[in-house]
Amino acid sequence: MPAYDASASEYDAIAELYDPWSRSVTEDIDFYVAEARKAGGPVVELGVGTGRIAVPVAAAGVPVIGVDSSAGMLEVCRQRAAKAGVERLLDLRLGDLRDPPVDARVRLVTSPFRSLLHLDTDADRLSALAAAFELLVPGGRFVFDVFAPSAEDVEETHGRWLEREPGIWERADWDLERRILTLRVRGHASETAMHLSWLPVEEWRALLEAAGFEVVACYGWFDLSPHKGGEDTVWLARRP
Ligand SMILES: C[S@@+](CC[C@H](N)C(=O)[O-])C[C@H]1O[C@@H](n2cnc3c(N)ncnc32)[C@H](O)[C@@H]1O
Repeated sequence: MPAYDASASEYDAIAELYDPWSRSVTEDIDFYVAEARKAGGPVVELGVGTGRIAVPVAAAGVPVIGVDSSAGMLEVCRQRAAKAGVERLLDLRLGDLRDPPVDARVRLVTSPFRSLLHLDTDADRLSALAAAFELLVPGGRFVFDVFAPSAEDVEETHGRWLEREPGIWERADWDLERRILTLRVRGHASETAMHLSWLPVEEWRALLEAAGFEVVACYGWFDLSPHKGGEDTVWLARRP
């Protein structure tokens, strides 16, 4: 089989920018660490990125197998893990989350911070959900979060360059009909454009059930409050 070719990852260009760009995103870390501790064994993270979640999970003593299609993001993750002294607990693999190069069967698969929104057809989403299902032992859980924009968010951000962090600019162009967000990110030395494709809550639920999952919970935030129509959803699904 040819090696996975990740040359097309839109994240490579901003791998060094990703951590400063997402510096304020911390609300989900304790939640995913708690899920990993509960599972106890190795966790597979699909779309592991720079290890924003995986490194704290490893620091809590739980081994992580991290899959990502961006070689650049994985390299930053490796450096971050070494700095935290947890590289021994991180097994990083270049590959596609629709067909992850992982043979292990585990009690927890995660996909934090909207990675599944990089899939833009139901066929691709179902491939990813089926892959997560396959990686789980019976009774194991798939935990991920996604979002769908509110009208206010679209109104406030559409077509505008906004300084998200000092020197890091972001522009959102929302295609409400096709449910595609084109997100541009620009720093001093690098920039990229990526597409994110969102779904209404009931469509995520239907896809999870079509992949064989039982939906255990759909929270509206990482404090486990129920989803009441807000932008974010945090899903806990169980392989029966
Ligand atoms: C928003 S980042 C999330 C990274 C990390 N989970 C976090 O919480 O910070 C999305 C990640 O998904 C990866 N990704 C996107 N599409 C992918 C695919 N088809 N297969 C594997 N990784 C993918 C990107 O390279 C990126 O690292």
